[in-house]
Amino acid sequence: MFHSGAKLWARLLHMTTQNAVRHAVIPAAGRGTRFLPATKTVPKEMLPVVDKPAIEYTVEEATDAGIKDVLIITSSSKHAVDDHFDACPELEGALEKSGKTKLLESINRYRELAHVHTVRQGHPEGLGHAVYQARDHVGDNPFAVLLPDDLMHPEDPLLQAMIEVRNRLGGSVVALLKVTPEQATAYGSAEVSAVDPEKLQGLSVEPGRVLQLEQVVEKPPIEEVLSEYATVGRYVFDPAIWPILETLPPGRGGEIQLTDAFARLIDVPKDQGGGVYGVVIEGRRFDTGDKLGWLQAQVAFGLEHPELGQPLREYLARMEK
Ligand code: G1P
Repeated sequence: MFHSGAKLWARLLHMTTQNAVRHAVIPAAGRGTRFLPATKTVPKEMLPVVDKPAIEYTVEEATDAGIKDVLIITSSSKHAVDDHFDACPELEGALEKSGKTKLLESINRYRELAHVHTVRQGHPEGLGHAVYQARDHVGDNPFAVLLPDDLMHPEDPLLQAMIEVRNRLGGSVVALLKVTPEQATAYGSAEVSAVDPEKLQGLSVEPGRVLQLEQVVEKPPIEEVLSEYATVGRYVFDPAIWPILETLPPGRGGEIQLTDAFARLIDVPKDQGGGVYGVVIEGRRFDTGDKLGWLQAQVAFGLEHPELGQPLREYLARMEK
């Protein structure tokens, strides 16, 4: 079909904006029972990693991947998360008055990076249900989901790579972590196949890191683990997931599971937004919802901190003697 220059341009622009991943959803409604007693009154997402709450790293990761619109799913016990991403005129005024510009910048930095919104999950019915709360906000657009318990070191621009794969192949894309069979029982477990490297030419991600999902199951017993690949923490979804989440029955643990939803996307025809791919995580990942994982994150990020890194290194060296 013939298009005039202007019409073709408008059509291309429409296609590009339709495809672009412009929304990030961060589910932060969980109870944080693994981190009690610290999380009795403090949301786990607000526990600091060095000098910032863990969830701020997640927001930064989304913005590093070019996403400016962030929706955090909270619950009634998460006021501190809502407040952290709101203005704080009294504190801002005090810092300004006393000339503490750096500190003032530090509390407002996220605002220059992203528009952060929050919405509440009224009933804790599982991760799939939490993500579904974003439907009205995100609408008929592709979107990213970032679980804040999974803190990804920025050395691996994983989300960016996942978005590139989605833009090239369509469908949805999940992050894959190599695990032992014992570890696999705590995650989504995936059966995978290779993707033709020709289809991935020119992308920044090495073709060997991209796989196609054939099957996925949430937290299987060890004898049902599907492979060494677990689906964790980062997802880019086609809006075809919405009607699935709308009617999805409860799965493992009696909860509406996100894994069950994208398991169904595997069988949806490609021209209807189906197909699920995986990108293997290469950087460091910390489970900050777990006490040991959180301590490891403190040390790793602390050692890289411009002011604290050196004294912390010296302290750790002294402790080893
Ligand atoms: C959730 C998901 C699971 C995923 C895990 C780690 O489980 O349901 O599929 O592998 O996060 O990202 P949770 O650890 O919240 O029980």
